[in-house]
Amino acid sequence: MSNIFADNILLGKVAFVTGGGTGITGGVARAFAEHGAKIAITSRKEENLIPMKQFIEENGGECFAVAADVRDFDAVQNAIAKTVEHYGKIDIVINGAAGNFLCAADQLSSNGFGTVVDIDTKGTFNVCRAAFEELQSSKGQILNISATLHYLATPMQIHVSAAKAGVDAITRNLSVEWGKHGIRVNGIAPGPIEDTEGMKRLLPDALKEKITRKIPLGRFGKIADIENAALFLASDAASYINGVTLVVDGGQWLQGTSLA
Ligand code: HXC
Repeated sequence: MSNIFADNILLGKVAFVTGGGTGITGGVARAFAEHGAKIAITSRKEENLIPMKQFIEENGGECFAVAADVRDFDAVQNAIAKTVEHYGKIDIVINGAAGNFLCAADQLSSNGFGTVVDIDTKGTFNVCRAAFEELQSSKGQILNISATLHYLATPMQIHVSAAKAGVDAITRNLSVEWGKHGIRVNGIAPGPIEDTEGMKRLLPDALKEKITRKIPLGRFGKIADIENAALFLASDAASYINGVTLVVDGGQWLQGTSLA
């Protein structure tokens, strides 16, 4: 990514990033490291973390990898404790771990619905809750990765839409409850971002051109677009921004989900 922002705008900060091994939040972890932050990444599977850890370290950054399933509060508490043991503090929490698959509501099992809500919504709460004391000490901040699916209605995505609506509620509630502790809580709602696992799962190649035509800016998003939004929100330039979910989608959701 080219350096739009001043070097080292996050120098001295420690960022704890869930889902930080791959995809959008992997990009955010890498970009934060490039701008001076020390990174802790977590994911269910340790093997998803190793390549990102190596990449950040080979490029002069610091990265601590710790496996945890965000659905498991004890595992999350352990990952937070190990990060604090390693770096001494946490300044920024980024909730990026998410589950997704396409399924019609009349085919989806209760457990399928609950699994995605558990990963996205309960997982986000678990990480925020487990990091609260650290964020209170550091006067830190939280960035929750959401979506735009629930702004209208997105067929085959009832589980993710419900889960991300819950994530947005967490962003707003915590911004109010924890603002008085000096903790800023914001979100980012990415639109369709190319080269991500989510897009591979959700979007048949055949539809890509049709969807591109429905995006006002005429292109899919890039992981770098989300990195830039996250760098802005995490930086002091956003020090009075609290409780917003910034949509980064080229204007796509305003066009609705119809492909006609
Ligand atoms: C229907 C499915 C399913 C599918 C799983 N389930 N996959 N139902 N269609 N394709 C159901 C299972 O049948 C089961 O219910 C329940 O979900 C739990 O399945 P498990 O395999 O036991 O769960 P688990 O291994 O814990 O997690 C499964 C998973 C996860 C949620 C699918 O592996 C996953 O999502 N991985 C993808 C990660 C990813 O792509 N992240 C990026 C998200 S992108 P039953 O009733 O059978 O027990 C994103 C962006 C959105 O969020 C916005 C885009 C614009």
